Amino acid sequence: MYVRPREWDILRALADLGGKARADDLARKTGVKLTTLMSDVASLAEKGLVRMREETRRRAKLTEEGLRYAKLGLPERRLVKALENSGGEADIRSLSASAGLSGEELKIGLGWARRKGWVKVRKGTLRLLAVPRETAEEKALRALSEGLEDLGELSQVLPVLEKRGLVEVVEEVHKILEITEAGLRVLQLPRPEEEVSQLTPELIITGRWRSIRLKKFNLEAPGTPVFPGRMHPVQEVIKEIREIFLEMGFEEIRGPLVETAFWNFDALFTPQDHPAREMHDTFYLLEPSEGDLPDLRTVEAIAKTHEDGWTTGSTGWGYKWDAKEARRLVLRTHTTATTIRYLAEHPDPPVWVFCVDRVYRNERVDYKHLAEFHQIEGIVMDVGVGLRDLMGILAEFYRKLGFEKVKFWPSYFPYTEPSVQSTVYSPELGAWVELCGAGIFRPEVTRPLGVKHPVLAWGGGLERLVMLKLGVKDIRVLYRNELGWLRGVPICP
Ligand code: PHE
Repeated sequence: MYVRPREWDILRALADLGGKARADDLARKTGVKLTTLMSDVASLAEKGLVRMREETRRRAKLTEEGLRYAKLGLPERRLVKALENSGGEADIRSLSASAGLSGEELKIGLGWARRKGWVKVRKGTLRLLAVPRETAEEKALRALSEGLEDLGELSQVLPVLEKRGLVEVVEEVHKILEITEAGLRVLQLPRPEEEVSQLTPELIITGRWRSIRLKKFNLEAPGTPVFPGRMHPVQEVIKEIREIFLEMGFEEIRGPLVETAFWNFDALFTPQDHPAREMHDTFYLLEPSEGDLPDLRTVEAIAKTHEDGWTTGSTGWGYKWDAKEARRLVLRTHTTATTIRYLAEHPDPPVWVFCVDRVYRNERVDYKHLAEFHQIEGIVMDVGVGLRDLMGILAEFYRKLGFEKVKFWPSYFPYTEPSVQSTVYSPELGAWVELCGAGIFRPEVTRPLGVKHPVLAWGGGLERLVMLKLGVKDIRVLYRNELGWLRGVPICP
């Protein structure tokens, strides 16, 4: 067991005080601040070298008035003295001045002097009966002003002094320290050397490291929490998703937030009168309100596909396709707009790309919904890929995110066939949670773009995933940026 030199000094001082002392006395004796002393004492107590207990003590303390009387004398004493000086008899009013008593003090002094039988009053004249010797009260006042605190010795006069408001009894809690047997044994050894907390190059070169005592690290000591700058928790999850996709051989793509309805809807075989296009779901731009369509060949192929199925084998939607509707500018409602745009420019396999980015929907904001949020999107276009590959890739993606159990349900999207909805099991919630919609792009989507191989596609909200990972119940918390929450999200969950 190592005892630091400062601790050793405290033991020494305690032993010198008879092995037992009050903490404040010991602090005075060692010249160490009480708080510092107590931290050393705690360490000594932990090592079993010192015992500590608390003692409640009552002690007498002079009040302000008591202090004054201890200095000047009790009013009755001063009155009697003045009376004696004026020959044993005097007019009360004149005495007040010669005794140097205030009106209040004169009243007090007169009262007590009469009660004690020192004076007699007759017709406004005061006569001295006896010159008293120092009383017990006066002795007590003097003793108290000289530092006596012990109640035992004062027990006789204390009630009077208390009643007169000259003394009050206060309770004090003292820490009593006592050196133990083990503590005494430590003092038999020489005073220890200071521990070295930094091993310097100099200590190593000179070889002094051999003789010094190195301070041990306390690996259990709690550190002070630090709140350094950090990435936003949502960005951290995005980064993790990005890394997973990259690990799986995907490349990241981005696309415009302001998109034409053409790429957001038409290219995805979403009918022009589809309810999702309506104002309550999609934000349409007023200024500018229209954008450019791609090359005519692509536009015509898509128009024909909507009208009668073109060469895709489909019957189409059976209406007259409107280019003006397709030119309308919208805030991207899903990142599928971005993958389809990319696909149109990269019609040849293999294509393994993903996109994690913002999308917009005209939603009433509540604990589950935001009008601006993120989607995770991916497509795989490769020779001979199918639904099994799609489910395998998604399951692998979720597994890497920490979700072991995945299920797929049949679903519907205008642009995929078959379509599935994927759900993952959240052990924290004890429930299955829907994440990505997925499917294989229909020929109505791929053929007009000149894509000849199957395209696996999936997409879903990011925030719900972040909420699952961070245990957040209200989606708005993610973007409220409350410092307390931001700091509390563990960096290494
Ligand atoms: N775009 C769909 C959505 O916003 C998800 C999806 C993407 C579905 C790709 C199938 C294929 O919910």
